[in-house]
Amino acid sequence: MKSVVVKAFGGVDQMHLLEEPTPEPGPGQVRVRLKSIGLNHADLMARKGEYKLYSGEPPFTPGLEGGGVIEALGEGVTTRTVGQRVVLSADAPRRRNRNSSGGTYRSHYLVLAEQALPAPDGLPDDALGAVWLPYLTAWGCLVWKQNIGEGDIVAIPAASSSVGLAASQVAHERGAKVIGTTTHPAKAEELRAMPEAKFDHIVVTRDADGNDTDWYHELRKLTAGRGVNVFFDPVAAGAFLDTEIRSLANYGTIWVYGLLGKPAKVDVSPLIRKHASIRGWVLGEIMDGGPETLERAEREILEALGEGRYKLCIAERFKLEDAARAHEKMSEGQHIGKLVLVP
Ligand SMILES: NC(=O)c1ccc[n+]([C@@H]2O[C@H](COP(=O)([O-])OP(=O)(O)OC[C@H]3O[C@@H](n4cnc5c(N)ncnc54)[C@H](OP(=O)(O)O)[C@@H]3O)[C@@H](O)[C@H]2O)c1
Repeated sequence: MKSVVVKAFGGVDQMHLLEEPTPEPGPGQVRVRLKSIGLNHADLMARKGEYKLYSGEPPFTPGLEGGGVIEALGEGVTTRTVGQRVVLSADAPRRRNRNSSGGTYRSHYLVLAEQALPAPDGLPDDALGAVWLPYLTAWGCLVWKQNIGEGDIVAIPAASSSVGLAASQVAHERGAKVIGTTTHPAKAEELRAMPEAKFDHIVVTRDADGNDTDWYHELRKLTAGRGVNVFFDPVAAGAFLDTEIRSLANYGTIWVYGLLGKPAKVDVSPLIRKHASIRGWVLGEIMDGGPETLERAEREILEALGEGRYKLCIAERFKLEDAARAHEKMSEGQHIGKLVLVP
């Protein structure tokens, strides 16, 4: 079995590939030969020591999602079969879960049988392990918490991100009008041409010289002066957040789920007269909502992926041994969609 281990907090040179004997599944467990592992910003933060809730102290194996094919059954397992394609439940890699292998940057993974969810035929192997962070993050916020629907205007910053693209599909399916924003003028053209990017409009927030565009007025025009009902935002800082607050419709909400921008003071006074709000969102809330909430979310998302209503956009695939290069690629921010490790 191969696994990637972060031996000390720091740069990509701290990630090492280890070879160990392949473990046997214990009672109630299955062993999954992983076919794909989604890469996430949280992995980079964990490597640098900026997310100890996730990593704990080194050494640790990063990775929050994975999927593959069942290779061996532990004692007493009757509900799964060898050769079955599965997606690891989003709960499985959590650090406190002692019934699984932990982080997913590895070739083989032990997990309780019920946490190896049968994958729909329509979900390709290279997407098996990379759907939860994009789709649970988007679905949990936009459907479970906000219940968006027809008549809503949803703005999605970082339109080229894996979460942003998933959010475009989720919002589009619910009948909302979807506006994506991107900081890269070149990406805007690609996004407009991508069938999986379900944006009605793409707005560019930075010009080729790196200066902010007048995207406030563009949003005013696109919303006929009404403003945006829902921002689903991983940037959320400084001038960017200021513009979002000014662009909100009455009773609108800005959901903050990341902090890609640089923190700075913002003027919150328009929130008062608009009866508007800014709220935080993290997908862990779905897990904390209890097994029924997580089961519903996972079931609905897998169904939509199986039926092709949602489709994961993969930017690039890397071998497990190239995890360091994949981390560098993610920090460059030039990709569109999900970066995936293929062990
Ligand atoms: N709260 C949660 O539960 C949760 C779950 C998953 C992910 N996240 C967060 O969601 C964010 C996106 O994750 P991902 O894996 O989808 O990322 P990703 O695919 O690597 O996309 C990152 C994109 O964000 C945009 N961006 C980066 N820096 C920016 C800045 N300073 N200002 C404006 N835009 C910037 C760029 O998009 P453009 O080029 O299109 O502008 C960039 O390509 C991350 O912050 C991550 O930590 C949160």
